[in-house]
Amino acid sequence: MWRTIQPLGRAARSGGYFRQPFASAERELDAWFVEQAGAQRLRLETDPFGNRIAWWDSGAGPGVVTGSHLDSVLDGGAYDGPLGVVSALAALEVLRDRGFRPARPIGVSVFVEEEGSRFGLACLGSRLATGATGWEQARGLRDRDGVRLDEAMASLGFDDENPQPWLGSEQLACFVELHVEQGRDLVDRGAAIGVASRIWPHGRYRFDIAGEPNHAGTTRMEDRRDPMLTYAMTALAANKQARVAGQRATFGRVDTQPNSTNSVPSAVTAWMDARCESDEGLATLVETITRQAEDRAERDGTRLAVTAESVSGAVDFDPDLARRIAVDHEDGDWPILPTQAGHDAGIMSTQGIPSAMLFVRNPTGVSHSPAEHAELPDCLAGVDALAETLERLAS
Ligand code: GLV
Ligand code: MN
Ligand code: MN
Repeated sequence: MWRTIQPLGRAARSGGYFRQPFASAERELDAWFVEQAGAQRLRLETDPFGNRIAWWDSGAGPGVVTGSHLDSVLDGGAYDGPLGVVSALAALEVLRDRGFRPARPIGVSVFVEEEGSRFGLACLGSRLATGATGWEQARGLRDRDGVRLDEAMASLGFDDENPQPWLGSEQLACFVELHVEQGRDLVDRGAAIGVASRIWPHGRYRFDIAGEPNHAGTTRMEDRRDPMLTYAMTALAANKQARVAGQRATFGRVDTQPNSTNSVPSAVTAWMDARCESDEGLATLVETITRQAEDRAERDGTRLAVTAESVSGAVDFDPDLARRIAVDHEDGDWPILPTQAGHDAGIMSTQGIPSAMLFVRNPTGVSHSPAEHAELPDCLAGVDALAETLERLAS
């Protein structure tokens, strides 16, 4: 399975992946998933948003669902998302080979636009499926080319005018997402597998800074209203404030108008990603950075507007479920640890579906980068861990 999907959406230059939702590479992966579901004789359920669950119908009652996502950030790694989907399909094969008969259905899920790399809202597919975000709120989201979400979906045949959330605890007894670890915790602990305790709250904030376009040579320095300066100082302030608070803040995306070398720009739009241990910490960090940006805008003679585009509150995964999963590994070979990365499992958890995550060691801890990696023996340990978990939860 891994070899089949490896070339899909990979950029020759960087070796990274461009698998944006409702676009060609991600659609090829979706077609691959449909094919795998058929090959394993799973019943495929597709919702009006493009999310999929491939069901191993067995027993009765709400199912145990495992899976992840097939989209990537821009120039992302191979493992973030696909490892969870491939491992889920592989774990089902392991269970079948063992002759396991589940007492309840087991599903393998793929949720669309987990990264929010195209429409800006993290975990869009699972939010829409569970009703955490309503369609009316989401349908008008636009990508970088101005294409609206509802238009992008309609062009692929997802044209339900009034799609409804449908996923809840009636369908799902629990959700388990296996994921490559995105930090170095497991490496430092010498463990191949981990179980998630919680997700840090995190958000994306758009800083729109308007200035006055002018000539780069003839405009005296003291006469300028330069939004680039406001942005530059804000990026430095974000880094400093996050360090001081022991939290995280990143400006990873900047857009400047008219993007001309010999002009003072008319406007800069920059996106900040901020993450903290607590919801209060996140609010304080964003407030502090915004205040410093406002002060600087006043000095620069620019105008600033800050918009929260995607905010995900703290998630505490069900501690009983985490303990139940790690129970035979009390000697610490499956440590229970937090993550600063967002996941669909976090959305499920906030929507009343008991959820858990398994992490697979990442030797460098690098993620959202072509250098993201996991060693094959650890990936296989992940499949075994997931099979063991599913067997326990669906017995
Ligand atoms: C998703 O991986 C995120 O944490 O942004
Ligand atoms: Mn990611
Ligand atoms: Mn992911």
